[in-house]
Amino acid sequence: MAQPINRVFSGVQPTGNLHLGNYLGAIRKFVAMQESHECIYCVVDLHAITADLVQDNLKQQTREIAAAFVASGIDPKSHIVFNQSQVREHAELAWMFNCVARMGWLQRMTQFKEKAGKNAQNASVGLFTYPNLMAADILLYRATHVPVGDDQKQHLELTRDIAAKFNHDFAKRIKEAGHGEDGYFPITEPIIEGPATRVMSLRDGSKKMSKSEPSDMSRINLTDSADDIAKKIRKAKTDPDPLPDNLEDLKGRPEAENLVGIYAALNDVTPDKVVAEYAGQQFGTFKPALAELAVEKLAPINTEMRKLMDDKAHMDGILEDGAARAREIAQQTMKEVRSIFGFLG
Ligand code: TYM
Repeated sequence: MAQPINRVFSGVQPTGNLHLGNYLGAIRKFVAMQESHECIYCVVDLHAITADLVQDNLKQQTREIAAAFVASGIDPKSHIVFNQSQVREHAELAWMFNCVARMGWLQRMTQFKEKAGKNAQNASVGLFTYPNLMAADILLYRATHVPVGDDQKQHLELTRDIAAKFNHDFAKRIKEAGHGEDGYFPITEPIIEGPATRVMSLRDGSKKMSKSEPSDMSRINLTDSADDIAKKIRKAKTDPDPLPDNLEDLKGRPEAENLVGIYAALNDVTPDKVVAEYAGQQFGTFKPALAELAVEKLAPINTEMRKLMDDKAHMDGILEDGAARAREIAQQTMKEVRSIFGFLG
């Protein structure tokens, strides 16, 4: 089978509190890439159990992410939207990648260190091998492009290392099976670009906006009402200085830089343009403009998400249909991969 040249894969964990960082850093890019690529977007529920084993609302949170995809403009008919656990091949390929990846590679993963914290001995083995499952997600579909936020960069480098090692170690068999000279798995390109690849907390410009941060005031959730969005922006931490007329002078002012980046991303302009427009203005002027823009862009998504989440059967139908189509691709890949490994049957 020839490798697809233009296939996109990306995933979002159903761990609650889907926020503006997820939207600007990832989901909005998912929408844009539909025009030019064949896209597969996955709610990665198997990843969700790596940190907290017992999830209270996994089904509903899975539907919420899928609803956010669709409400943001992803077309589940022309592309594929599904949840990972419905396609068993993700777990199978992840096992094989546990044997391809080296201990040293995983020990370098900064996200494991952050998430495991001080008590790494008590972290699940799944949290440690999480990046192998992520590589399996992507390579099961032999995806060529992966839109993500900046925090996933290291995981995508590992995905490339796994693909390269597999292609190298099995080069002879891959060629004999007629898969061509370039190897079986593509060396996937991460797509990490634009002014919002790392949206920061509204309360602390040195921390990224995150689903797990205890303070809800630190993030704008996609399910927040217009009033909540306006309140969170009004209360966002800033400094007493007015906005400068150039980006260089924003350096060292992380909270101000973050709000300018959010404005730029929401309005589809460069941060340069934002500072040019608001040069010399106080946050008392800039924040209401940002709040208005955020409500204008996010309210329609919020309304549509609520409507979709009220119709569980409809959402479940989208995920089942997507899983059936994903499975077809995944099963073909696994047939070829099993044969390359040399398994009987
Ligand atoms: P997750 O669920 O943490 O986040 C989903 C996407 O949102 C991006 N993101 C951000 N972007 C900008 N600013 C932020 N503050 C911010 N916070 C999160 C993430 O970079 C991500 O793109 N490991 C992945 C899920 C995953 C995956 C995959 C992604 C599993 N398999 C295969 C791509 C391909 C994760 O935990 O994302």
